[in-house]
Amino acid sequence: MDKNAAIGVFDSGVGGLTVAREIMRQLPEEKIIYFGDTARLPYGSKSKETVIRFSEQIIRFLRTKDVKAIVIACNTASSFALDEVRKVEDIPIIGVINAGARAAVAASKNGKIGVIGTEGTINSGTYAKAIMDMKPGVEVFGKACPLFVPLVEEGMFHDTVTDEISSRYLQELKSKYIDSLVLGCTHYPLIRSTIARTMGSDVTLVNPAYETAVQLRTLLRSMEMNCDEGRNLPVEEKYQFFVSDMADKFRAFATAILPDEVKQTIKINIEEY
Ligand code: DGL
Repeated sequence: MDKNAAIGVFDSGVGGLTVAREIMRQLPEEKIIYFGDTARLPYGSKSKETVIRFSEQIIRFLRTKDVKAIVIACNTASSFALDEVRKVEDIPIIGVINAGARAAVAASKNGKIGVIGTEGTINSGTYAKAIMDMKPGVEVFGKACPLFVPLVEEGMFHDTVTDEISSRYLQELKSKYIDSLVLGCTHYPLIRSTIARTMGSDVTLVNPAYETAVQLRTLLRSMEMNCDEGRNLPVEEKYQFFVSDMADKFRAFATAILPDEVKQTIKINIEEY
């Protein structure tokens, strides 16, 4: 395996850019090939079988780019597909669930942990299982917050509508006296300040994107697979973006949240893979 190959990162759309952004910050020497499945999102309301099929296709596409490892940046795809794809692929694949669960366990003092995410992620119970496996006896309270995704995609990061929906969704978790809350969906770190205001200063917010980048760094180091040529590459070569639809809209969103302008996004037909 070539240590100077890129890391493949994928998500149902733009949300996984919050994970790519963390990898860029924490592993600036690595190259990234990002795929956003903008033609077929949202994944959060789709069945397990469908999300597994989509994930398998995307992994086949990323492997045509000879990636050395894959990060499933999407919480829903990590919940549904990680175990399945790991059974057949021979490169390291990591999801976001374990990293987020570990950080939540470390942050919680009273053993009451909240998890918010899509319907798929919450109903799958993967966060709850991962957290309880790591620390038996803790209580985990899940809450699906489906409206957060479109609010973020509309750019309503600081908006009274987002405040109102946040209060309604999170009231239930506040009443359980949780002291840490996993932002278990790629989009939620972008409305972190709203969620923090709703939950109050006693609740630690856990961003699995950050923890996933930490896990990736540890993994690459342990395999001695760190890239040593990424730092000298022009940014358009170092970071490449592919989508299944709406390339210009994706590019504008990516430019707004990533440190460097995204000059090119290539649309591919993912159904061919
Ligand atoms: N990326 C998805 C996740 O983290 C959210 C958007 C979707 O439903 O596709 O679960």
